[in-house]
Amino acid sequence: STSLKNAYNGDFYIGTALDINQIEEKDPKVTNFIAKEFNAITAENIMKSMFVHPEKDKFDFETSDKFVAFGKKHKMFIHGHTLIWHSQLPKWLSEINDSAEMNAALENHITTIVKKYKGQVDSWDVVNEAVNDDGTLRQSVFLKTLGEDFIAKSFQLAAAADPKVELYYNDYSMTNPAKRSGVIRMVKKIQEKGIKIDGIGMQGHWHLNRPTIEEIEKSIIEYSNLGVKVSITELDVSVLPSPYGLQGAEVSQRFENNEKMNPYPKTLPDSMQVKLAQRYNDIFKLFLKHKDKISRVTFWGVNDTQSWLNDFPIKGRTDYPLLFDANLQPKKAYYQVLSLK
Ligand code: XIL
Repeated sequence: STSLKNAYNGDFYIGTALDINQIEEKDPKVTNFIAKEFNAITAENIMKSMFVHPEKDKFDFETSDKFVAFGKKHKMFIHGHTLIWHSQLPKWLSEINDSAEMNAALENHITTIVKKYKGQVDSWDVVNEAVNDDGTLRQSVFLKTLGEDFIAKSFQLAAAADPKVELYYNDYSMTNPAKRSGVIRMVKKIQEKGIKIDGIGMQGHWHLNRPTIEEIEKSIIEYSNLGVKVSITELDVSVLPSPYGLQGAEVSQRFENNEKMNPYPKTLPDSMQVKLAQRYNDIFKLFLKHKDKISRVTFWGVNDTQSWLNDFPIKGRTDYPLLFDANLQPKKAYYQVLSLK
């Protein structure tokens, strides 16, 4: 029988994010299902700095080793996420305020992790989410201590630790014109220094009607014109409206305050199944049109119950953004994506 990975074989990898319980393979039914549908995996959380580098002089690779072993066993493309990011940081790293100390930490962090998985991990998100919506650089402990050089430096360290592994810059809202210009400026600076960058990851946390297909297409082309691979790294399509009709900082504040919204109905209504299928149809049609530029399309989770969107951007809601439902049954959107091949 066919599957996503078989249908798109020769076009691009079809990936999924995996978290700890899936990696531990407690349920063989789930493992078989993942191996049948996907040929690429990303660590949803377990390679983030707070987990692999909990203290200044202590790394913990127990779970990330299991993740890599899972990928090897099932002959998958293994993507590491993420070396340098402002979020999910260990306390010790978030509290550094001296540039010499940060330089040493950056070097130790990147070198140790990349070397550890040299020849095993196929690609890394070296820097994640360093650019604001307006194209300026995002405030973070890295920018504060090292200035914008932390970005090129991170790529340089990763390339030195494993010259063959593919190095990515990854971010969300990559279709927003101001942000896109900022990302392109940033990538060009890395390239002008003669430092290696192989790919750009567009996260792909999208909605039923935004961004438009035209905006996505323009972005794929412009990023590809930098001479790098483009991957869609964290694809999901939220079917829910923005909370209270608000976006950005106004929602973040309510999220921080632990505000909860009422859950959406227990199942996705038929009319919404159709809309989701149509949206995935348009998105994958576009990906196929640009398959020469796209190396991987990774969903942010195997099925709807795993999705981080069930509690984000506001807590309490249930979302239905993926191709498989709570019981791992294919949704209408799944058959639609398969039908394009
Ligand atoms: C999310 C995970 O899915 C959640 O489980 C976790 O609580 C927070 O992080 N951009 C990224 C991902 O690069 O690492 C984030 O993953 C989603 C947004």
